[in-house]
Amino acid sequence: MVRPLELIGIKTNLVRPGEDLVEALLGGMERSGLALTDGDVLVVAESAIATAEGGVVNLSEVAPGPRARELAEKYGKDPREMELILASSDRIMGGIPGVVLTVKDGFLYPNAGIDHSNAPPGHVVLFPKDPQSSAAAMRRRMEEATGKRIGVVIGDSRTHPLRLGCVGVALACDGILPVEDARGQKDLYGRPLLVTRKAVADNLVSAAEVVMGEGDEGVPAVIIRGAPVKFAGDGEEMTIPSIPPEECMYIGSLRCGPHPYQGGYDRLIESARGAMERAYAPYSGFRVGAALLTKGGRVYSAANVENASSGAAICAERAAIAKAASEGEREFEALAVVAETEEPVAPCGICRQSLIEFGDEIKVIMANAQGDAEIATAGELLPRGFTVKAFGTKDRGA
Ligand code: THU
Repeated sequence: MVRPLELIGIKTNLVRPGEDLVEALLGGMERSGLALTDGDVLVVAESAIATAEGGVVNLSEVAPGPRARELAEKYGKDPREMELILASSDRIMGGIPGVVLTVKDGFLYPNAGIDHSNAPPGHVVLFPKDPQSSAAAMRRRMEEATGKRIGVVIGDSRTHPLRLGCVGVALACDGILPVEDARGQKDLYGRPLLVTRKAVADNLVSAAEVVMGEGDEGVPAVIIRGAPVKFAGDGEEMTIPSIPPEECMYIGSLRCGPHPYQGGYDRLIESARGAMERAYAPYSGFRVGAALLTKGGRVYSAANVENASSGAAICAERAAIAKAASEGEREFEALAVVAETEEPVAPCGICRQSLIEFGDEIKVIMANAQGDAEIATAGELLPRGFTVKAFGTKDRGA
């Protein structure tokens, strides 16, 4: 028989800011006559961690800035909450009414993990400051207090694309392996499993959430007993692994740029910056530089050139494309654009059209003079763009 799995909720008093969560859990266990045993996994709700470490913010003390107001209006959110979301995330990917999708340290979170639920009225609970350190500290102290060897997982809840309802997701894990590689194991028909990894830590959080609930149950942690988890050996990685956006089925297939720039085109950005210095922009004062890299390794750079007749101005990107194409170049790898903007500058619509003429996979590195940069392909910047493919094989009327 497969060993039965037990899920034992730990009931505590309401966790308050500044409270010692380990003490609260040990107290709750004692009152219920519970004790940890070797091999247990303790799943702790992220909201309890955040509350105990004092991450409870009174919204009336938050002053929203202009960007927070703009985004709050766009996504139908409280501007003060949006201010906290901006401060707590690396990037905002987009949103729908009431929720924005944010990125922090390479993970996706709704609303930067900031919660209304289980927060006092008029307050929100921030995302825990450092879930990994909290998991490690929780395990060390729990092991010291009980003398038992355990694993600790900090859990949150999340929806899956196109599914109603939340499932568990692990934010941090200590003591056990968060993901087990099942490749090489055989399936029921003896064929090797090729790509299967088991998200053990996420699965444990989902199981724990069956008894933890989301509301007023007062169960901030669950003991999981009997789970066939692998305890981490010395030096084994216990942090939750992530994959790059291109390897993610959801993000990879719904790609819509831009993405954070991770390096590789620094010299091209430098050429664009140099070209920006030569901009002729006496009317707008808005200087833009572009540098286009051919597949053969040549770089053509250009700046915007304005005109007293404003419609005769040409953007830096198109000037670079014209320069390269009129030298006979047709195959391009990347285009860098730089301007003295607050956010990395994005090519205008006409330039996107000019670029996609030469391929929707051309990479566009958008940068500002301070060195912030983002990257997207020409196709991501102009989805469903009009190209020669539209002509198909039909007689073109020539
Ligand atoms: N401009 C560019 O060179 N590239 C862009 O992507 C946006 C706009 C120039 C055109 C004009 O000289 C000035 O910026 C203001 O519109």
